[in-house]
Amino acid sequence: MEVDLASPPAVGPSAGRTPPSRRFPFTPYPTGWYRVAASRDLGPNQVRPLRCFGRDLVLFRTTNTSPAVLDAHCPHLGAHRGHGGRVVDGSIVCPFHAWRFNAAGHCVGVPNTTIVPSRARLRAWPVQEVNGAIMVWFDEACRPPLWDVPVLPESLSPAWTRFRPTRPRQVRTHVQELAENGIDLAHFTAIHGGQISRIESEELKIEGHTLTHRMRNRFAGRISRNTRLFGLAEDRQTRLPGLLEFTYYGLGTMVCRAEVAGRFPVSFITVLYFLPVDDAFVQVAGELAIRRYGILTFPLLALAVREAERAIAADTAILENKSYLNRPQLGDTDGPIMPYRKWAQQFYMPSSPTPAGAQA
Ligand code: FES
Ligand SMILES: [Fe+2]
Repeated sequence: MEVDLASPPAVGPSAGRTPPSRRFPFTPYPTGWYRVAASRDLGPNQVRPLRCFGRDLVLFRTTNTSPAVLDAHCPHLGAHRGHGGRVVDGSIVCPFHAWRFNAAGHCVGVPNTTIVPSRARLRAWPVQEVNGAIMVWFDEACRPPLWDVPVLPESLSPAWTRFRPTRPRQVRTHVQELAENGIDLAHFTAIHGGQISRIESEELKIEGHTLTHRMRNRFAGRISRNTRLFGLAEDRQTRLPGLLEFTYYGLGTMVCRAEVAGRFPVSFITVLYFLPVDDAFVQVAGELAIRRYGILTFPLLALAVREAERAIAADTAILENKSYLNRPQLGDTDGPIMPYRKWAQQFYMPSSPTPAGAQA
């Protein structure tokens, strides 16, 4: 699936509402790794324009190397290399006057002269390609990466399908709010009640930039009715017991593992990637895989993709219109929201405005 990051809506649901800069008491761009494209969407010698972190960037892949991300605009006369740029001999050639830059952002050639302006450089962004995703490191202070996103065992195992994408969607919110949605237990039955009928927290584990939340739940409603079509549900009233485990690597990557128990156990993995496009919008893209299950594998995977898209759509209207409360009035079924916010503080520079509620 082509991921179009180049054209966020100029006018979205935010038109006429609170300006985005006043919506959240912290920067829209926390430190971390963010997925800018799926590996499948960038072949050898291909070039893609990117719009993220409120900036224009260009992504390209040379024939035999990892992908590279540079600032998009040429230091010569400002052309955007993502629109008409070409990859030649491992460098990206500007579409305007054909200056060439390598993956490190150095100018390595100007047509019809041997002189290369010494200050002609582009910022090269740290890139990691893992789990079929091209990730870019963002840090306001330009620190080098402080951690890596690990290889997910499911992405290497023949017992699992390949990842299949959900339709990407732009949501007028903040990456911290999207990630918090997986911690907010009470919303699962209120908003996703057709999929989850009961849920409770089992364990919250925090290790540096990684947070893992384990939950015990009952899958319900539409999943139950659909799986019944494949002969998996025991009866129409079945509420299949299950386990959910959400692991966050910073605020840009959320790995959701789901196990549906019962007579025919099924396991899914959903990786949700949150990419700050600008100070108003975040792109949400999902990748799903399922443990192979004979002839039911691909119908179940298609069902899981649809359910994931339905869940993201159900959250969107709430997230686009809610306000961020520093000190929410929480009940005892809300899940570990405040420990999550305290953990999230590490992704903001001390100089950026911080989420005061996280200190409560
Ligand atoms: S603007 Fe890029 S080479 Fe002139
Ligand atoms: Fe949700």
